[in-house]
Amino acid sequence: MDGSAKAAEAEDSPFEAMDALAGDTRDPYPEFAEKRKHDPVWRGTLMDHPDEQWAVFRYEDVSRVFRDQKQFSSEGYNETIGLVLGPTILGMMGSPHREHRNLVAHAFKERSLQRWEPEFIAPVCHQLIDGVIEEGRADLVRALTFEFPVRVIVKILGLPSDDLDMFKRLSMQLIGIAGDMEAGFNASLALKEYFQVQIDARRSKPTDDVINDLVTAEVDGEKLTDEAIVSFLRLLLPAGVETTYRSSGNLLYLLLTHPEQLAAVRQDRSLVPQAIEEGLRRETPLTNVARFATTDVELCGQTIPKGATVGVCMGSANHDESRWDDPEAFDILRPQVPHISFAAGPHVCLGMHLARLETRVALNVVLDRLADVALDPGDRDPHIRGMIFRSPTSLPVTFRAA
Ligand code: HEM
Repeated sequence: MDGSAKAAEAEDSPFEAMDALAGDTRDPYPEFAEKRKHDPVWRGTLMDHPDEQWAVFRYEDVSRVFRDQKQFSSEGYNETIGLVLGPTILGMMGSPHREHRNLVAHAFKERSLQRWEPEFIAPVCHQLIDGVIEEGRADLVRALTFEFPVRVIVKILGLPSDDLDMFKRLSMQLIGIAGDMEAGFNASLALKEYFQVQIDARRSKPTDDVINDLVTAEVDGEKLTDEAIVSFLRLLLPAGVETTYRSSGNLLYLLLTHPEQLAAVRQDRSLVPQAIEEGLRRETPLTNVARFATTDVELCGQTIPKGATVGVCMGSANHDESRWDDPEAFDILRPQVPHISFAAGPHVCLGMHLARLETRVALNVVLDRLADVALDPGDRDPHIRGMIFRSPTSLPVTFRAA
């Protein structure tokens, strides 16, 4: 499909355009296992990048690359997504990164998260389930997982409900920029103007939301510039909305295809947190990110040359057999060993507590409202797909209203 056809489709159906971007790879894990065994530090790429390419696959190496900012820099983001989003926290290093992170972290404090659960997150999930409850069947990707993270962000940011459709369309175009550059750039500009109006409004009349927190955040007399706030808000779309949509779909797919584990979680809700962690490990929603070697670096007997792009394969690290027995199995009862889906080190995901909270609430709403929920594939062949971004194409289910 060419760019304009994709753009037209994105207008009509943001879901199809986003889903198509993941690509057709069904199961990258055998290839990851091969690489861990034979080429753990590999000269080559799983991503589409023009420079010299290397990739790391074992847990220890992935963890080391994330933690060693001096030798593996994230500044390359400024030349990739930074060109669209503006300078973001992801491409910052050292003390500017720390200071910036402290300022924005303020907006995601524990106290706010506790409030958001009853105020927005649960109501948003219930409202979406209300829309299908009478039907007795639904595609849970379309009905729930694709919808709720963007609706939650709208609430958290304090945007007017009337703007939801416009905001959703721009968000999906921005996230889908790899498929349609022009629509992505235009969406980025439109979001900049839109967010600037929201920022100005909060300066004249403070509100109780994340944009207000970003406008007023101050650490040691330093405040965020408007440009930094706008860039951060745009980053929340690929960083917070897309990942949560994919990870919650993955978890539901894994539970629906392992009915005995679904039944166990339904019966004992204290298993929900470990089911979420095992879902993130077994089906990592974002399998790879990039770093850049600032110097020649030796890893596993190989020398990665200065200037090389290094693919950091979290999807492979999460299946490292030196850390997990039978890593390809989905087993919510396995001994709990931390995975690396949220990265590690200075850039470890800032939204991981929110992502976990959103997923917990969405799963509990599904369990509370949909009795006997079961996959009903028909001719739809639901499956998880994608090499870098992974999530299910659809989750057709039948159920009874509980
Ligand atoms: C399951 C869902 C999520 C996954 C798997 C995920 C994964 C990640 C990963 C791997 C990184 C590090 C990227 C790198 O260093 O190259 C990251 C960073 C980040 N994430 Fe998440 N994320 C998720 C949800 C969220 C949510 C809900 C938010 C906020 C609303 C968020 C905000 C961020 C931000 C702001 C950063 C940049 C942190 C920094 O550079 O210091 N993420 N995330």
